[in-house]
Amino acid sequence: MKKILITGAAGFVGSHVSERIFNEYKKSKILLYDKITYAANLKYLSKILKKKNVYFIKSDLLNYKVLERSLKNVEMAINVAAESHVDNSFGNSLLFTKTNTLGTHSFLEACRKQNVKKIIHVSTDEVYGENLNKPFKEDQILNPTNPYAASKAAADMIVNSYNHSYKLNVTTVRANNIYGIRQFPEKLISKTIYSFLNKKKMTVHGKGNSIRFYLSVNDFCNGLIKIINKGKQNEIYNIAASKSYKVIDIIKLIAKHLNKDLKKNIRFIKDRPFNDKIYKINCKKLNKIGWRDRDLLEAQLPEICNWYKKNLNLFD
Ligand SMILES: NC(=O)c1ccc[n+]([C@@H]2O[C@H](COP(=O)([O-])OP(=O)(O)OC[C@H]3O[C@@H](n4cnc5c(N)ncnc54)[C@H](O)[C@@H]3O)[C@@H](O)[C@H]2O)c1
Repeated sequence: MKKILITGAAGFVGSHVSERIFNEYKKSKILLYDKITYAANLKYLSKILKKKNVYFIKSDLLNYKVLERSLKNVEMAINVAAESHVDNSFGNSLLFTKTNTLGTHSFLEACRKQNVKKIIHVSTDEVYGENLNKPFKEDQILNPTNPYAASKAAADMIVNSYNHSYKLNVTTVRANNIYGIRQFPEKLISKTIYSFLNKKKMTVHGKGNSIRFYLSVNDFCNGLIKIINKGKQNEIYNIAASKSYKVIDIIKLIAKHLNKDLKKNIRFIKDRPFNDKIYKINCKKLNKIGWRDRDLLEAQLPEICNWYKKNLNLFD
């Protein structure tokens, strides 16, 4: 591939995807596109930004002209950019629709105009909504229950329409919660580590009984590469972790690792307006093309905690 563009490249998932794409496509020109919101940091891209085949474009998905121009001669475009934090979406839901829905529409239209041959859109398991029964397959009817999930589900619908109406080649990936270094300390694992290291109390929604599946960012990138190489055109792929945890158990795990007294370092707060108890997704389609998750959170925690210890100042 001659030219690849990745949006949201300076964020948590985007920076890992960008490094991975750089390693897989050594001969390609790689364009990293990001608005640089509070969740992004160019330092996350320091390993690759100085390479002569890597270029950074600071711009918004909604800046259509810049986006379309950036996609000229691009052969593969990966849309990772998003407003990603559910809690923020309750307060500022319009921004979520602008970035996640309209931003994805802008991305697809610009890809269409520039005739991009291969497009990957990063969605989320939250589009399916809560699920207490059998894990949802990719053809499950969407039932998002918070403004973040709704803005992502709306984007997935626009992807569907572009696949049908314009025969655009867009593959969608819907993953469980992802963890790893560089995640802004607002999501459960990064926030717990950051709070404990900063001697702040970790707040827990309700009783911390919601259950979440956790996928390492490395496993996510492996899944993405598998889908790029072996996935079918215009399909949706779930990327699911094998192991789930109660929120409170994750906090206990991190407290134990950082030697913190749990009772003294947490504070229970009112639950979210609506908090899905669990998202269960079926990953057999991706398993069939050879992907399995390999990492265990327990084994990854020391490295992740060390990274936050060394990089606390990034979040001052
Ligand atoms: N983190 C998770 O647990 C998880 C799980 C499943 C799916 N996802 C999806 O993965 C993607 C990345 O999530 P993340 O956790 O890395 O989010 P993040 O908030 O860490 O990063 C998002 C990135 O997008 C950029 N961005 C935001 N608005 C933009 C805009 N309008 N134009 C251009 N760039 C913009 C930000 O600057 C940032 O670099 C999202 O699409 C999210 O829905 C995340």
